[in-house]
Amino acid sequence: MSLSDRAALTERIDVDLGPRSYPIEVRGGHAAKETDFEDFVRERLEATWAGRGCRKALVVCDAQIQDIWGDRYARHTTNLGLKTRIAEVPTGEKSKSPEALISLYDRLIDLEADRHTLVVAVGGGVIGDLAGFAAASFNRGLPLIMVPTTLLAQVDSSVGGKTGINHPRGKNLIGAFHQPIGVWIDLESLDTLPPREFRSGLAEVLKYGVIQDAVFFDFLENNAEKALARDETVLLHLVSRSCRLKADVVEKDELEHTGLRAILNYGHTVAHAIENVAGYGAYLHGEAVGAGMVAEARLAARLGWIEAALADRIERLVRRLELPATIEGCDMERLIGAMKHDKKNKLGRIRFVLPRKLGSVELTDAPTEDDVREVLRGMMR
Ligand SMILES: NC(=O)c1ccc[n+]([C@@H]2O[C@H](COP(=O)([O-])OP(=O)(O)OC[C@H]3O[C@@H](n4cnc5c(N)ncnc54)[C@H](O)[C@@H]3O)[C@@H](O)[C@H]2O)c1
Ligand SMILES: [Zn+2]
Repeated sequence: MSLSDRAALTERIDVDLGPRSYPIEVRGGHAAKETDFEDFVRERLEATWAGRGCRKALVVCDAQIQDIWGDRYARHTTNLGLKTRIAEVPTGEKSKSPEALISLYDRLIDLEADRHTLVVAVGGGVIGDLAGFAAASFNRGLPLIMVPTTLLAQVDSSVGGKTGINHPRGKNLIGAFHQPIGVWIDLESLDTLPPREFRSGLAEVLKYGVIQDAVFFDFLENNAEKALARDETVLLHLVSRSCRLKADVVEKDELEHTGLRAILNYGHTVAHAIENVAGYGAYLHGEAVGAGMVAEARLAARLGWIEAALADRIERLVRRLELPATIEGCDMERLIGAMKHDKKNKLGRIRFVLPRKLGSVELTDAPTEDDVREVLRGMMR
């Protein structure tokens, strides 16, 4: 591959958060030289106080991907002269638990970690959230590098600094904001990702188009088949533009104080209700978001905020990305009940993030429960 091809398959997104600023590097897999990651880590460590004293690293991954990806990144940190250990946790949401967190603290203590010890989170959103929170809390904060390996983690969870675990009585109840010193996205890691997980990530990509960028929505519409086929050039744009769009929101509302960050919840009021009522696992998160975006676009059309034709267009793209546009196995009143418990609500009214036009949304409690029932009725199977 020529030098210019390599350059074309690389994007760098700078997340500007003052002293907590960091870059996201996105590499077209087959363009990424083995040593590029090592150069990236070296540069990131030199750029920070904690990193400059770094002698050790803990690479965290889940059981499913240790052989493929965990070992590779542990080799890289070893090559950098860092005493490296791998911590493997069980696959799945159950690892966002106090027990798994303690197991990471144990590994850090065994490693005699100090405040300079690097945590490298290699995996999906579960690993990013868990290892990120271990890095946020151990010794009051360790340097963290995120290596997201699912599409959802690449375009969403690895950007923005939210880390945390679940409490038996509530998801993401325990957590902290902790920005990484760098995010490394190797698109090659998507090669092994199961199709359902991949499509689930595409739902969040589509979301950015609706909430922030009509041109990006057009791009996805024009390249839906290539996206599904994981065409590398298309993926490079989808991932890097999604990161840029999320970073734009995070830069303006890092700690979720102004309310701007709420726009990322388009489709999510209905999605969270579906996930709750259908039982966690029946729908992957992105699948519920697919149906949720269709429902909330229909709601916006019902309020007269957008033309019905735009809601149709959003639904068509959801379907072309092979995401669900209907709701199955859910009772209507239980869905409404779950929405009433959404954390965005105020004064007992359900709140939604609804499109005003393609590329622009608003948080609102304008829809009545009957509006919601009417829209959902048309989607229930
Ligand atoms: N912090 C945030 O801002 C934020 C945002 C969105 C979601 N999240 C969290 O992210 C989590 C979901 O993340 P997820 O969807 O990535 O789930 P996940 O981490 O469970 O990964 C999904 C599955 O894919 C496997 N996998 C990961 N990378 C792979 C690869 N390259 N090849 C093959 N298999 C691979 C994993 O082993 C797992 O079985 C949730 O806990 C959610 O709360 C956090
Ligand atoms: Zn989401």
